[in-house]
Amino acid sequence: MAPVIETEGLTKRYGRQAAVDQLTFEVQEGEIFGFLGPNGAGKTTTLLMLLGLTEPSAGRARVLGFDPVREPLKVKRQVGYLPENVGFYEDLTARENLTYVSRLNGLSEAEGQERIDQALKIVGLAEEGVKLVGAYSRGMRQRLGIAELLIKEPRLVFLDEPTLGLDPDGINRMLDLIVSLSRERGISILLSSHLLHQVQRICDRVGIMIKGHLVARGTIEELRQLMPGEGKAGASLEDIYMRYFQEA
Ligand SMILES: Nc1ncnc2c1ncn2[C@@H]1O[C@H](COP(=O)(O)OP(=O)(O)OP(=O)(O)O)[C@@H](O)[C@H]1O
Ligand SMILES: [Mg+2]
Repeated sequence: MAPVIETEGLTKRYGRQAAVDQLTFEVQEGEIFGFLGPNGAGKTTTLLMLLGLTEPSAGRARVLGFDPVREPLKVKRQVGYLPENVGFYEDLTARENLTYVSRLNGLSEAEGQERIDQALKIVGLAEEGVKLVGAYSRGMRQRLGIAELLIKEPRLVFLDEPTLGLDPDGINRMLDLIVSLSRERGISILLSSHLLHQVQRICDRVGIMIKGHLVARGTIEELRQLMPGEGKAGASLEDIYMRYFQEA
């Protein structure tokens, strides 16, 4: 099966600095792939290039078989994106916000309402759909962001720090939701995060990005095997991450 994401030498330079440097990796269909890295590592820049929202300086990418530079609309139609800061119309209800999105996606009124019902149910906001988004908590907003991207029934979603700012219960609900999108709906997922415990819990494979370079990628078990020394069998993702971080 063809990967849902493939890149080769993907690079983005801002002036003389490379925010993403020669990135080569792939994400397989059905996988939850976690992108890890400190602030400024190039995670968001990578997502933006894959979506066709910013142009690479070099290299190439394929997303669901499309070139995001030449076919950005085809990519956007099938890929759901939860940005770092999700924006909504605060003085509209959640339903009204989603109705707006479904119209933008060219859905008929009936189909739009059906998908909105389903999306709100999936994210656990069925009862709260009639509330103004201005009155939503951070956790509800993040889940509404997921509902929004589900409206277009994507095959692939990009989640940029989906648990940022959530309390422990909110984090767990979001992680369970992400896993259910993968397992129950077969959606492939690329997510970025700083939270290693969470990533360890839900991701099939991870990539560690530091200063624009992908310094490691694989399953956590594969990365463990690459660790030096005796204690590697019990190494956590945090141990693995710190090793690459210190070497960089
Ligand atoms: N529009 C821009 N103009 C200039 N430099 C930029 C721009 N966008 C990002 N950069 C730089 O590119 C580098 C990578 O940024 P990016 O936002 O991709 O990192 P990140 O891994 O998402 O970080 P964070 O964890 O803080 O979200 C940083 O050095 C950043 O300052
Ligand atoms: Mg970022």
